[in-house]
Amino acid sequence: MLQALGSLAAALWAGFRLRTVLLGAVAFLFIADFLKKRRPKNYPPGPPRLPFFGNFFEVDFKQSHLQLQQLVKKYGNLLSLEFGNLPLVVVTGLPLIKEVLVHQEQNFLNRPMAPLREHTFKKGGLVMSSGRTWKEQRRFALSTLRNFGLGKKSLEERIQEEARHLIETIKEEKGQPFDPHFKINNAVSNIICSITFGERFEYQDGQFQELLKWLDELTYIETSMQCQLYNLFPWIMRFLPGAHQTLFRNCEKMKLFVSRMIEEHKRDWNPAEPRDFIDAYLKEIAKNSGNASSSFHEENLICSTLDLFFAGTETTSTTLRWGLLYMAINPEIQEKVQAEIIKVIGHSQQPSMADRERLPYTNAVIHEVQRMGNIIPMNVPREVVADTTVDGYYLPKGTIVATNLTALHRDPAEWATPDTFNPEHFLENGQFKKRESFLPFSVGKRVCLGEQLARSELFIFFTSLMQKFTFRPPNNEKLSLDFRMGITISPVKHHLCAVLRG
Ligand code: HEM
Ligand SMILES: *[C@@H]1O[C@H](CO)[C@@H](O)[C@H](O)[C@H]1NC(C)=O
Ligand SMILES: *[C@@H]1O[C@H](CO)[C@@H](O)[C@H](O)[C@H]1NC(C)=O
Repeated sequence: MLQALGSLAAALWAGFRLRTVLLGAVAFLFIADFLKKRRPKNYPPGPPRLPFFGNFFEVDFKQSHLQLQQLVKKYGNLLSLEFGNLPLVVVTGLPLIKEVLVHQEQNFLNRPMAPLREHTFKKGGLVMSSGRTWKEQRRFALSTLRNFGLGKKSLEERIQEEARHLIETIKEEKGQPFDPHFKINNAVSNIICSITFGERFEYQDGQFQELLKWLDELTYIETSMQCQLYNLFPWIMRFLPGAHQTLFRNCEKMKLFVSRMIEEHKRDWNPAEPRDFIDAYLKEIAKNSGNASSSFHEENLICSTLDLFFAGTETTSTTLRWGLLYMAINPEIQEKVQAEIIKVIGHSQQPSMADRERLPYTNAVIHEVQRMGNIIPMNVPREVVADTTVDGYYLPKGTIVATNLTALHRDPAEWATPDTFNPEHFLENGQFKKRESFLPFSVGKRVCLGEQLARSELFIFFTSLMQKFTFRPPNNEKLSLDFRMGITISPVKHHLCAVLRG
């Protein structure tokens, strides 16, 4: 009896002690968390935050670009939020966006390194790197892209040729409903592939189609709850199953694909005659061998190549898919585009970049597709390089900065019908009119590296398709403009009919 009581007391005592220890630990973490995250003086205002999670639960990742409008109204054009322990400031409105991306660009050139990205790319590559690595990789990529045709006739011809392949494969659908997603993906991807790998891939190539599927999965998995949690608590999530593990597997498979490509290139490599980006990079590695501080090594070759492949495939093909969808939904606009193309170029000659000036309506439609498609709604995030002041507010080094391109592209003060597809936004007296509040490629030193390439692709693919086909919804079906949130905003799965024109 006494013994039983004794063990009960011991158990109670043990339980009590455990609880106290736990409570004490939690309280300590809360206080430490609070102290660590006290906002500096003059920091931009924002809503109150939860310990550990910050404002994590205020953002719905399925449509994060449309939320928080109320907060901007309440707190202003520099709004501070917190994700876990990551300080984020959202910039709204053209004057402040230009202040950050142009006038003070030196202070905003870095990218934040999320644990998700770091896991597979380390700090390397082109899109998410910072500092010297970024500078070296960007300079090299730009000059190499130029050497392999950017802004040259040869590249334009390659896009025209690819457009012909795309037309042929769409013809095979015989006007019946089909999902245009992966055909367009493949066509667009072939352009960057011909620059990086020196080859294009047939639309029937099963292995390449699989690669495109992994890439597509990546773009929407990254916004999943598990991946966001991985970014907050990598040391816990690492051991748990979930979407983030799929993402890691896909990244590994893609890296493997690229390293196989590199091995193939090495086999018949001739430094005197680089054939493509990989060849040129191998030469740069050789040039810098023995220099431990150089960022040109094989790991970065894989990362930068994958970055080009990803950035050069997903964005442009998503924009084109929005384009065809908007045409199918707005047949009267599609007819005007086709009439202009036929009047200026005719039925048989293939459109080229030189025709852009003479096709103002078509050019305006492509711009309007980009405005409405708004595929990178919050721009790619930047990180503050050194303590700085914007609009009287203090932004310490390390603050993450998002610029709200959605607000810019849907600003009712700038656009006559901000939420409706309307090519007149880019027209004046029948001529094409540039708009300042249109920044789908961003602006400044870290502007999209592929802007010129993307513009050529969009123009030639779009006009070539419009010249040959009329895109329609399948019979008795209403097409929707619903979107899938991911690294880019893309149309939800849909079918179109491509009716061959006379
Ligand atoms: C419609 C198509 C495209 C859109 C809307 C787009 C948009 C963007 C945006 C908004 C950024 C972030 C810029 C910033 O931080 O200020 C970016 C970066 C980048 N884009 Fe594009 N892009 C497109 C096509 C392409 C293509 C075809 C390539 C292929 C070469 C490409 C390569 C890159 C690279 C490498 C970066 C990172 C640049 C850096 O961090 O220095 N993009 N893009
Ligand atoms: C960005 O702008 C859009 C459109 O004004 C708005 O709905 C959204 O809440 C804004 N997002 C953020 C994070 O400020
Ligand atoms: C080594 O690389 C760094 C960074 O690229 C460069 O600044 C430096 O000049 C290089 N040193 C030599 C000896 O080439």
